[in-house]
Amino acid sequence: MDIGSITTAAYIVASLFFILSLAGLSKHETSRNGLVYGMIGMAIALVATGVLVIDVTTDLDDGWIPIVLMLGAVVMGAVIGLWRARIVEMTGMPELIAALHSFVGLAAVLIGWNGHLEGSHHTLESLNNIHEAEVSIGIFIGAITFSGSIVANLKLSARMKSAPLMLPGKNLINVGSLVAFAILTVVYVAGDRASTAQDFVLVVLTTLALALGWHLVASIGGGDMPVVVSMLNSYSGWAAAASGFLLNNDLLIVTGALVGSSGAYLSYIMCKAMNRSFISVIAGGFGIEAGPSDDTDYGDYREIQADAAAELLARASSVVITPGYGMAVAQAQYPVAELTAKLRARGVDVRFGIHPVAGRLPGHMNVLLAEAKVPYDIVLEMDEINDDFPDTDVVLVIGANDTVNPAADEDPGSPIAGMPVLKVWNAKDVIVFKRSMAAGYAGVQNPLFFRDNSQMLFGDAKDRVEDIVRALGSDEVVTPAGARR
Ligand code: TAP
Repeated sequence: MDIGSITTAAYIVASLFFILSLAGLSKHETSRNGLVYGMIGMAIALVATGVLVIDVTTDLDDGWIPIVLMLGAVVMGAVIGLWRARIVEMTGMPELIAALHSFVGLAAVLIGWNGHLEGSHHTLESLNNIHEAEVSIGIFIGAITFSGSIVANLKLSARMKSAPLMLPGKNLINVGSLVAFAILTVVYVAGDRASTAQDFVLVVLTTLALALGWHLVASIGGGDMPVVVSMLNSYSGWAAAASGFLLNNDLLIVTGALVGSSGAYLSYIMCKAMNRSFISVIAGGFGIEAGPSDDTDYGDYREIQADAAAELLARASSVVITPGYGMAVAQAQYPVAELTAKLRARGVDVRFGIHPVAGRLPGHMNVLLAEAKVPYDIVLEMDEINDDFPDTDVVLVIGANDTVNPAADEDPGSPIAGMPVLKVWNAKDVIVFKRSMAAGYAGVQNPLFFRDNSQMLFGDAKDRVEDIVRALGSDEVVTPAGARR
């Protein structure tokens, strides 16, 4: 067996590991295994590709140069990757993921340009045309992914405004760009091979795709950003698959298609969860218009202190905790787990209500609560708990805002109108943990804070939950039966 066949076999094994990895990642319980399968698959792919490159290049003059370059790139990438992964906060994951997607997009653009500069030397003219179409499609998807991911990174890291960019005729710009891409591809494929005119067409096509990627993501408002991240994930997969065709690399085609289709499916699930039109979001906010600015006077809010909150909790028989991004920022999951254990020990029924886009990445809250060893069986999805709020004594909204905003349910003019939310306001008492009256990620005011049954507990969520845990441990707090402990 020659090295080529061994590599092909290794690629098939790696692909199987990637499929196992996706299957594992679809459930909490198996997600760790999913990651391990993914790592094994990637290790096999890297070693097989390394062996192939070494085999092909050792016979060439100066064949050591590509080998040294490849090893240098792998070592540099590994060092930077390990460093970033070690220092990244959980809340910074989406922006890191967006940055990584931009690399996939850039790689696809470079591979496309390399394919153009190298040219295609098939004897069959139709194969040369196919090669050129692959160059054009690869560069187009890659450039959209590259610039779109940069905008996503800037928005998620708050270095760019999260409000949607509303250029006049934005839908026309998007559709017009797609038509222009189709025309440019035809001109490129039909043009004289290796001519300056062909170079020029490809420069225009690359610039157009970069501008389109920028515009698509800039047009999407803050609340829809979760879908953008998974959508760019999908684009990066298709960009990798396009590169696979250009490089004749089966593994890249398979892996790219896996990433592309699973990312598209995840975007679809998230759109359904947020009651957004999938097509609208992937087409850069197609059909979504800017909502009116909110200067409504919602009245006054009430404040509560940790001791009084502890009293309320001790008297409750059912408590639901709805965590959000603020719990992640404050790293409050550990005191929250302690509070849960304390209340449950007192006989209080404590459960968690998790909104599908709470936090900044899918499953964010579930990961944090699992990390703090909160039992899985009391952590419920939004749909499983939404009907139970009228029978709940106290809801603790810990660092959540958009995901518990009644305007989504009641105000058709709100920018988040139609997005399903946790209907916490139906409970007897609601305590909202946050540091100020500032808006959430989508930038809209939350009328929940001004409801008669809501009270604000200001301060860092971790400090305030710790205060409540402390108060519950003290003699001052009554038990549900009314006797002092
Ligand atoms: P947000 O609406 O972002 O609200 C978080 C709240 O936490 C803020 O109002 C903030 O208020 C408070 N907070 C921040 N730091 C805090 C701290 N140290 N202690 C206490 N409170 C703190 O969060 P959410 O309800 O989880 O909603 C998620 C939002 O992010 C949605 O709009 C969603 O679309 C978007 N998003 C989600 C994802 C995914 S995939 N889940 C990805 C990107 C964007 P103060 O500043 O007043 O403290």
